[in-house]
Amino acid sequence: MAMCSELWPIARSTPCSKANRSLKTSVLHLAPCHTGLVAAKKTGSTVAVLGLGYVGCVSATCLARLGHRVYGIDPDAQKVSSINAGQAPFYEPGLEEVLRESVQAGRLTASTGLLPGLDECEVAMICVGTPSAANGNLSTDQLEKACGQIAEAVRRRTKPLIVAIRSTAFPGTADMLAESLTAANRHISVVSNPEFLREGAAMDDFMDPSLLVVGGPAKAAQTVAGLYSQLPVEPSLVDIRTAEMIKYCCNAFHALKIAFANEVGALSEKLSVPAQEVMHTLCQDTRLNISAAYLRPGFAFGGSCLPKDLRAITYRAKHLDLNLPLLEAVLPSNARHIERSIQQVMDLKSTHVGVFGLAFKENTDDLRESPVVSCIEHWIGKGKDLRIFDPHIQMSSIYGANRNFILHAIPHIEKLMVAGLEEMLSWCGTVVLAQKPDAASAAAILDSGKPVVNLVAVELKSR
Ligand SMILES: NC(=O)c1ccc[n+]([C@@H]2O[C@H](COP(=O)([O-])OP(=O)(O)OC[C@H]3O[C@@H](n4cnc5c(N)ncnc54)[C@H](O)[C@@H]3O)[C@@H](O)[C@H]2O)c1
Repeated sequence: MAMCSELWPIARSTPCSKANRSLKTSVLHLAPCHTGLVAAKKTGSTVAVLGLGYVGCVSATCLARLGHRVYGIDPDAQKVSSINAGQAPFYEPGLEEVLRESVQAGRLTASTGLLPGLDECEVAMICVGTPSAANGNLSTDQLEKACGQIAEAVRRRTKPLIVAIRSTAFPGTADMLAESLTAANRHISVVSNPEFLREGAAMDDFMDPSLLVVGGPAKAAQTVAGLYSQLPVEPSLVDIRTAEMIKYCCNAFHALKIAFANEVGALSEKLSVPAQEVMHTLCQDTRLNISAAYLRPGFAFGGSCLPKDLRAITYRAKHLDLNLPLLEAVLPSNARHIERSIQQVMDLKSTHVGVFGLAFKENTDDLRESPVVSCIEHWIGKGKDLRIFDPHIQMSSIYGANRNFILHAIPHIEKLMVAGLEEMLSWCGTVVLAQKPDAASAAAILDSGKPVVNLVAVELKSR
């Protein structure tokens, strides 16, 4: 068994091998692993963990298991005495054994008071609750109280202290807390280090994290990431608000996936289709389904398939007396996104707008339900003068349903189309990117110096 407090030198990233991930052990077979550019420490750090609930108790126990000296702090005297007696204050598989070992080894003690633990530590990790307020908003009361107590306790401190917010907190919360903490003591820096563990698998999740995110000032973020340097995970060091946002997005995404699977299950059942087989097979596609595909913020969807098929699903579901609010919300959500794009261009001072892309995506001439067509209808109707260029569309060669769709939407579209990108760029005051341009077009757009409304959120590079 590898010892926890060994020296892992400062190392450029050696991606953690899958072998290291054999952690159903979990906690008992720690395998060394370098993480990114994060400095791992020769000896364990001293960490105060404020809040000894599910997240705090597991974090405190596992940090102690990693060789750090941990002071757990919680006003709940029962939790504190339970931990000091080597007993887990709640049921979590594998927790009690490691907690007892850490307490017996003198690496974990709990207390109801901040001091003296806080005096000794380099990092104070806040794991207090952030429950829902009555109106659904996040309550930051416990966070503010804990930070107030820290500020009070370290007023005369002259060595650095990193306060790591591990509680789930909305973007901006850590910045708000940092303001009062740094006002109390300029040696304090604040980072966001959200927790991703799942109750019931918390020990495995901590020791074999799916994600390690630290956001905040670089040096402090690296120090906090260094606490986990023995774990088989590459830290993502990001901006503080990004770290907070990532946590919310992960939970929203998990909830979305469960609701999606359940709606698919309900519809399948009504149609006498085996739901488990449907979703299991869907998950076999790791290129388009279980992948990063379609998970990049950008322009609305359109085309000849997605809108049509969503309409069919929701229509049929209604006829089966089945309420599928998630699937029913997808087309309205897309419509709201199109409205935001429309507004972005309406907010421009420029009246001469060059639109790059008319088809619903790059490398096709399919115009059916192309979201930019709806945008163009609005922009023209509200007085914008447009020129449109699409590298794959020549109106003379568009026919059938494709031609009918566009002529029905914008009868005089031909007059707005230009034959070349240069023509559009020399005419317009602003470029609207409604489609991902190829490298040459991207460079030409960038080099034109014209302001760009980048609806597709792609990076433009000069040649
Ligand atoms: N439970 C989970 O699975 C999970 C997973 C990831 C993230 N989170 C987030 O982590 C945070 C903590 O969640 P939890 O489930 O552990 O909460 P919890 O309610 O179980 O524990 C919070 C603890 O904080 C203590 N506390 C309150 N004020 C304090 C103070 N001023 N100083 C010290 N301790 C104080 C409470 O006594 C309690 O023991 C929340 O923001 C939650 O959203 C939870």
